[in-house]
This record gives sequence, C-alpha cells and structure tokens, in this order.
Amino acid sequence: MHEVNSQVKERAILVGLSLNNGDRWNTEDHLEELALLADTAGAVVIDKVIQEKDKIDPSYFIGRGKAEFITSLAKEINADLLIFDDDLSPAQARNLERLTGKKIVDRSGLILDIFARRAKTREARTQVELAQLKYLLPRLTRQWTHLSRQEAGIGTRGPGEAQLEVDRRVIRKRINSLTKDLTKIKSHREVRRRHRQDIYKVALVGYTNVGKSTLMNALTQSKVFVEDRLFATLDATIRRIKMSNQRPILLIDTVGFLRKLPHHLVASFMSTLEEAKVADVLLHVVDISHPVFFEQIAVVKDVLSQLQISNKPTLYVFNKVDKLKHKAILTRLKSEYKPSVYVSATKGLFLEDLKSEILQMSNDAVKEMELSLDIKFASIISKLYELAEVLEIDYHDSVVMIKIKAPQKNLHEINRMLQKQTHKN
Ligand code: GTP
Repeated sequence: MHEVNSQVKERAILVGLSLNNGDRWNTEDHLEELALLADTAGAVVIDKVIQEKDKIDPSYFIGRGKAEFITSLAKEINADLLIFDDDLSPAQARNLERLTGKKIVDRSGLILDIFARRAKTREARTQVELAQLKYLLPRLTRQWTHLSRQEAGIGTRGPGEAQLEVDRRVIRKRINSLTKDLTKIKSHREVRRRHRQDIYKVALVGYTNVGKSTLMNALTQSKVFVEDRLFATLDATIRRIKMSNQRPILLIDTVGFLRKLPHHLVASFMSTLEEAKVADVLLHVVDISHPVFFEQIAVVKDVLSQLQISNKPTLYVFNKVDKLKHKAILTRLKSEYKPSVYVSATKGLFLEDLKSEILQMSNDAVKEMELSLDIKFASIISKLYELAEVLEIDYHDSVVMIKIKAPQKNLHEINRMLQKQTHKN
C-alpha cells in the first residue's frame, strides 16, 4: 500500500441525507464531522448539500432530481468528487458516478482511505488492505477500469489503484492470503500478550479526536503521535504508566471510535481492539468541550457492546476541561457518570486525580492465580490466607496446589513470597 502524493487537493462537495424532515439539524452537525474526515483524507470541502426526503432512493440515494442539481453545481464550482455521509450500495454509487461524471466516495470508502494512510504496523496494514478489498469486490465493475479511475486520490489509495486491472479471482486469492497472514500475526500478538498477563492493564477508549493519545503522552511521558485530525492512532500503542513506588501499570491506546462506523470496519479492527478486551479497566475518554459529546458517549458505548466489553469496569475521563465555558454541567456529569474525573491533558490539569483513581481501581481489582508450592514451604500458606481468598487447596506428595483470588494490591507481596521460596530451593 503506498501513499499518494496529493499536493493538489481534491475539491469535494459533501452530501447528507436528512430523512423524515425532523433531523436536519443533526444532519448539518454530521456534515461538520464529515468535513473533518474529508480534511483528514486530504480533500478541500467547497460546498455542502443536504437533501430532505421521506425515504432513501434505491437508484440514486438522494433521488435523481437532487443528483442532477448536484451535477450542475459540481460543474459550476469545479468539484472533483462527491462525498456521501452514508454508505451507498454499489449500484447507487455507479448510477451517481454515471450521472454526475464525478468521483463518488461514500462513508466507508472515505474511512478506509484514512485508515490506509494511518496504518503503520504490519497488522494494521494487513487489516486495512483486507477491509479495502472486501469493500472493493462488489464494486469492481467496468467503471473501475475506466481511465479516470486510475488517477490517484481519495477512494483509490491502497489496493484500489493496483486492483483496477485485476479480476475478482485475484482479489479473492489476495483476501485469502491476507486472512492467513492476519491469523499468524494474531498468534504472535497472543504470545506477547501472555507475557503481560499479570500486569494490570488500563485501555484508553473513546471517540476520535478526544485526546486519548495526548493523555497517553501526559501519563507516560512518551511521544505518541498526536494531531488535530481524526484517527491519528490506528494501532494499539502500549506504554508503561509512571506511578511513584508502585508496581507497573500498562496503558493501552486504541483506535478512535466514530459515529456510523460501518460494521464490517469494526470487525476488521477487532484484533487491534482486542488489546482493550484484555484490559482490566477501560478509561472512556470524552471531549467535554465538544457540542455533541453525549452523542459521542453513546456511540462509544455502542461499539463497546459490539465488542462485548461494555461490562468492564469503566472510568469516565472528561478531557479538555480547559476549554469548558460553563462549569455548571460538571455537577450533572459527576452524578450521572460514576466514577469520573475531569482533566486537561494538554495543560496537565488534574492528572493526579486521574492517576489516583486508576490506582484505586487497580487496588480494588482481584486476580485469580494458581500456585504450586513445595511442601517444605507450606508454612507460608497461613500468610496466603491473610493476603488472599483461598479457593482450592490440594496436597500432593511433595507439592501443594493452591488456587487463590487476590486483590491486585497484594499481588506484589504474594509474588515476593513465592520468589523467596524459589531462591531457597
Ligand atoms: P484519534 O487518534 O483520532 O482517536 O485521536 P485522540 O483521541 O488520540 O486525540 P489526540 O490525542 O490526537 O488529540 C486530538 C486533539 O485534541 C489534538 O489537537 C490535541 O492537542 C487536542 N487536545 C487533547 N487534549 C486536550 C486538552 O486537554 N485540551 C485542549 N484544549 N486540547 C486537547
């Protein structure tokens, strides 16, 4: 997959559909976000069009009349492409392309394009290419082999360009081989993950651009890539969090979530998000200064439940308090979101509150462990009863097998005792 030199920015018209007349305001708001996505993909937004309709038009999505209006608008203002805020069926995209003579990019296509630019590790690159090919397959028609399609630009990055000349069979073959690669990468990741099994893990999750990476940098004094653009982070980054005199805690940064993140894309990023799955606690980061942050919280919760991790212990981290104009909302948030902290990652405000809350949660957490003790050291068993709940105990000839459930705060002491025993052996 290679990056295209897009010195000359493509000029885009954004198109939103407002169904049932009721949610025009919402659609406008969503187009604001689409503009940010388009900017991240390297386009310049020159106009926005909203169509109000009772239902989706099966052939032209927004209806033929509106599509014709956009055709003349695009000619007049010299647009290169039309970006739709929703997903289009392959047939709708084809019809619109034929009618308008312009390149058509839908929501999935745009997000995939951004992902293709952002992916850095082998795993993320493989995932993106796989998702792009699956997206491309039903859209692979004569249109795609048309010369104009071979120009580089949004929606054609990644395999899009290379695949124009190849047939479906080749794509299917590539999909198979990428799927195999991904399984291999996953098993390597599994091994690495097992090494981190006993360390307390905290995963940052949240809507895109809320400040997860900035927070990661502030808490770990590292330099994770931060940008005021969407999806600056695509790969899960893992760093050790610095807490004085404490055992290590790992902090995991994950890909940002997004409204209408297509289901198949969530599925393709499942393995990156698996890091969040194995975490002991989630830090749900929220941009408190964003006008629709309640909606963003709901979207994140929805994705978390798709990932089946919505029941994990969660700490709400309301970030960017430095930008908050009306402090009155804090009282409401504090009673509605528990536990929650209010910080500014860039200004370094109240990060100590956050750290002590993480510490508190890690101390409260419990871990199940299985121990095998040399019978010579059975005397430490009574100490174990003080530090943990003993679930099972089996005496064999020379060893005692013990299953315990210990609070995180006692793990260090337990490990120290066990290590002493190994040294004496
Ligand atoms: P994705 O990678 O898209 O998921 O984004 P992210 O959630 O990791 O956000 P990131 O850390 O890249 O920050 C996004 C933007 O918000 C950057 O421009 C940051 O400088 C800015 N930002 C982060 N924290 C704060 C804060 O506390 N206050 C203010 N004013 N800006 C912040």
